[in-house]
Amino acid sequence: MVKFTDIVKAFVKGIARSKVSLIGAAITTITFPVLVIAGILDVQGIIRNPYLGFFIYMVLSPLFITGLVLVFFGLFFFKGKEEVGLFTYDYLKEQFTAPNKFVRLRKLITVATFLTLLNVFVIGLVSYTGYHYTESVSFCGTFCHQVMTPEYTAYQNSPHSRVACVECHIGSGAEWFTKAKISGIKQLYAVAFNTYPRPIKTPIDSLRPVKDTCEECHRPEFFQGDKLIVKDKFLPDEKNTHVETVLLMKVGSGGYRGEKAHGIHWHVAPGNKIVYRYTDDARKTITDVTLTKPGGAEVVFSNDDGKSEKANQGTTRVMDCIDCHNRPTHIYLSPDEALDQKLLTGKIPTELPFIKRQAKEEVTRSYATLEEAKNSIATGLRSWYKKNYPDLVAKNPSMLNQAISGAQQAYAENVFPMMSIGWSTYQNFLGHGEDFDRGCFRCHDGSHRTATGETIPADCNTCHILLAQDDPHPKVLQGLRGSSNQ
Ligand code: HEC
Ligand code: HEC
Ligand code: HEC
Ligand code: HEC
Ligand code: HEC
Repeated sequence: MVKFTDIVKAFVKGIARSKVSLIGAAITTITFPVLVIAGILDVQGIIRNPYLGFFIYMVLSPLFITGLVLVFFGLFFFKGKEEVGLFTYDYLKEQFTAPNKFVRLRKLITVATFLTLLNVFVIGLVSYTGYHYTESVSFCGTFCHQVMTPEYTAYQNSPHSRVACVECHIGSGAEWFTKAKISGIKQLYAVAFNTYPRPIKTPIDSLRPVKDTCEECHRPEFFQGDKLIVKDKFLPDEKNTHVETVLLMKVGSGGYRGEKAHGIHWHVAPGNKIVYRYTDDARKTITDVTLTKPGGAEVVFSNDDGKSEKANQGTTRVMDCIDCHNRPTHIYLSPDEALDQKLLTGKIPTELPFIKRQAKEEVTRSYATLEEAKNSIATGLRSWYKKNYPDLVAKNPSMLNQAISGAQQAYAENVFPMMSIGWSTYQNFLGHGEDFDRGCFRCHDGSHRTATGETIPADCNTCHILLAQDDPHPKVLQGLRGSSNQ
């Protein structure tokens, strides 16, 4: 009768006889406890650091698996048959033909099965958690530190800060998973060898169709109604006067519960198809727009006066959410918006005279680094207020300090010199800018027309009703909020 311990010994001996197995066993034995401890620290969230994840899932785990492979490789192929003969054909034949040894073989199989199961379990766990690690916001957002800082910062301040990067950038399914991993390897290479573009180029051509990303959470048909938008602003005057712009935005729906598609989301109604042709990388110059209506009828709006040589130039694209919501989560504000937000939330004190104007002057200068920007914003504001409001600064120094820190934050959240991202690098298509030259007005500019002269509407009431503009006490809000305050 062969003892169970003998089997284990034979197994160990088998490993010991093969150098390859021995190396494998050494690797496995050393990595195993480290892997288990590091894994627990990571899974339990005791240490939160993207580099720990990288160490576990990209370094330790592959090493551990390599060790295992070496062990079994060695057992099968690299050992002297004559000695222990574990797992070789001769050995197995001998075990099977000699009846008294069959027991031993069974036990050996039990040991091997047990070890294999244990390893499969560990590998399974590691690949599962490793998969989740490479899909995590922490990996995508912070691993390549400098490169993703702008996107990660803007994302954290956005409505989608609880939606993982992969929900929009990869979506579900094996095909895009593989594509993403291949592209991820290219990106890691670009970061390692410092060959990535600064800033990262947009629009991203390879973005997955919205049907598999945005529309997994948002239904295009869904009735959004008319949305009241109140924009709080501060004028560049001595009092930093607080004013409001009020718009009733006709978001509408893509046709919900029997109701027809209407308003802004009419574009994404399942029956409508809008294909546009653009001639520049930024998709800003749109030469023609083809609307296919639910019945199949086509309408072409063109701005090239029917000059046919232009007709086939450029690239075509089917319009979807991203053509308006190109910044659903990486929302970089303009200097005015960023400062207004800080003033509204009290991060910059509104009592400090001319702070809107002065802060804007400081944050819109061009700086080579964030450090330089912060220092220069501080010294710039300090010297201006010392010169123009010496008493105020002497009496209440904390007010100026707070304003400086608020202005620095407004800068740091939106401008990233190390990635060459300035105030207007990434523009939002959701609107038209003060000069009516971008976003919606790439098409709604009145100059795209059909052969019979119809245009894409540019009338101010097409998309919204402007209820108040830069008004210190909008009547409409007094009515809605109750007349006691504005
Ligand atoms: C709600 C969906 C969504 C989420 C969540 C999201 N992104 Fe994006 N991301 C987009 C869209 C849409 C674009 C821009 C597409 C365009 O302009 O072509 C984009 C663009 C980018 C770009 C290109 C540069 C830029 O600023 O436009 C990078 C880099 C990026 N995302 C990284 C990330 C990282 C890292 C995360 C997680 C921290 C993340 N994204 C989360 C939708 C998302
Ligand atoms: C995993 C789910 C998910 C995905 C994918 C997703 N979103 Fe969202 N989105 C949300 C949630 C949740 C909110 C609401 C946040 C809140 O109000 O707290 C939201 C909010 C929004 C809003 C309203 C923002 C605001 O200012 O209030 C817009 C617009 C939007 N999403 C567009 C998009 C677009 C465009 C995409 C694709 C690029 C997308 N979403 C992908 C879940 C998602
Ligand atoms: C023609 C441009 C356009 C297209 C295309 C478009 N949207 Fe919008 N959407 C808007 C505008 C404008 C608003 C109002 C946003 C604002 O100013 O707050 C809006 C509002 C929304 C809101 C609600 C925000 C809120 O606060 O209630 C969601 C969610 C949304 N869009 C998702 C989508 C999704 C998903 C798609 C693609 C299926 C899409 N949109 C396509 C322009 C568009
Ligand atoms: C790629 C071109 C394109 C862009 C960009 C675009 N639109 Fe349109 N839009 C169209 C076309 C084409 C029509 C249909 C005109 C017609 O039927 O006469 C239309 C119609 C509309 C309508 C009328 C819908 C109805 O009920 O019939 C609204 C409202 C609208 N757009 C709002 C917007 C807003 C807001 C934006 C920007 C956030 C925007 N559009 C961006 C092409 C565009
Ligand atoms: C094709 C649709 C469309 C048309 C036409 C249009 N707008 Fe707008 N407008 C928008 C959208 C979208 C926004 C952005 C709302 C937001 O930022 O949430 C906007 C924002 C605004 C704002 C607020 C800007 C701010 O940040 O304070 C004003 C003011 C404005 N529009 C005035 C006008 C005037 C005046 C016209 C007529 C010449 C006009 N719009 C025509 C879609 C349109």
